[in-house]
Amino acid sequence: MAATDWSRRSFAYYPTDAIVLSRCIGGVWSTPEVTGDFKLNLHCFAGVFHYAPSCFEGLKAYQGADGRVRLFRPHENAARMAAAARYLDMPTPPAELFVELCIRCVQANWNHIPPYGTEASLYLRPVLFGINPQLGIKSPDDVMLVVMASAIGTYSGAKSLTPGTAVLSRNYDRAATFGSGGYKIGANYAQSLHAYNVAHGKGYRELLFLDSATHTRIEEFGSSNFFAIKDGRYITPDSASILPSITNKSLRRVAEDAGLQVERRPVAVEELETFEEVNACGTAVVITPICRIDDKTSLESGEVTRSWHFGRPDRCSPVSEMLYRRLVRIQKGIDEDPYDWCLIIHPIM
Ligand SMILES: Cc1ncc(COP(=O)(O)O)c(C=O)c1O
Repeated sequence: MAATDWSRRSFAYYPTDAIVLSRCIGGVWSTPEVTGDFKLNLHCFAGVFHYAPSCFEGLKAYQGADGRVRLFRPHENAARMAAAARYLDMPTPPAELFVELCIRCVQANWNHIPPYGTEASLYLRPVLFGINPQLGIKSPDDVMLVVMASAIGTYSGAKSLTPGTAVLSRNYDRAATFGSGGYKIGANYAQSLHAYNVAHGKGYRELLFLDSATHTRIEEFGSSNFFAIKDGRYITPDSASILPSITNKSLRRVAEDAGLQVERRPVAVEELETFEEVNACGTAVVITPICRIDDKTSLESGEVTRSWHFGRPDRCSPVSEMLYRRLVRIQKGIDEDPYDWCLIIHPIM
């Protein structure tokens, strides 16, 4: 069999060996089941097909420099999924069950973990959704938690830290002020797909959403948080309608320890002209440097009314790169893990 060219892998589904699942029926979670059958047998009246009681997570396992496999901060994902489940009023998986399913999914797909020295990793996708047949609009009583895996490369297929462009979303909102934006629920993504398609169709890598009430403050990108560097400060928006990114949280800690002042506060669009470095951050790529943000009256418009430029279009700016390298070195076991972020996973012998 030809050796895998890990450098050609993007953020996509690549077949693996097994998924791990547990059902909560009548309030009782079943013993986790590992199966090579990726097709779920679901009732067509299951709530997930109609009213979207569904939330998900994303986290990665890395092959380390020392040959050990590390899962990055799974308890943070467990807590975020529990928050989403509570928001949707559906049964909440206990953190230990969530983490156990993740560990077993890595173990069941051990032969798919990309080798150390590549930019690839084993991405885990836990999904929780309502399964009991229903017609009335109500939260589900019974749910299924499935953890699946894909051995992925860098998000866009480009090398890590390759800068991209973004556009402000003036005529589409991601999340309402008092809406669900702070939770990782499928519905948030469904309703931003069209805007994303328009932005991608115009050649932009990222779409930057603004607060839906005033469109004067930066919220976040469609699938990642926003942070900027200015005068030795790490600045990231604070808003209830932004997803609390685990990468952003980790970078803030790393930034603080590197002597940067961290500011988590409302960020006005007007501040863009003062920023030295701008990035998108999230599990998939850790950091995507943003070299240009365009403003337009609408995403569909061909006319750019204003552009902001950050750093060079061909390389990541220095402070952002330093933060990226430090975080990745912890994730891959090159640097010591002073925060106890990595969970070591052992193979099943
Ligand atoms: C809307 C949104 N914001 C931010 C993030 C980044 O979060 P994390 O760093 O936990 O992956 C993601 C990806 O999960 C996302 O979908």
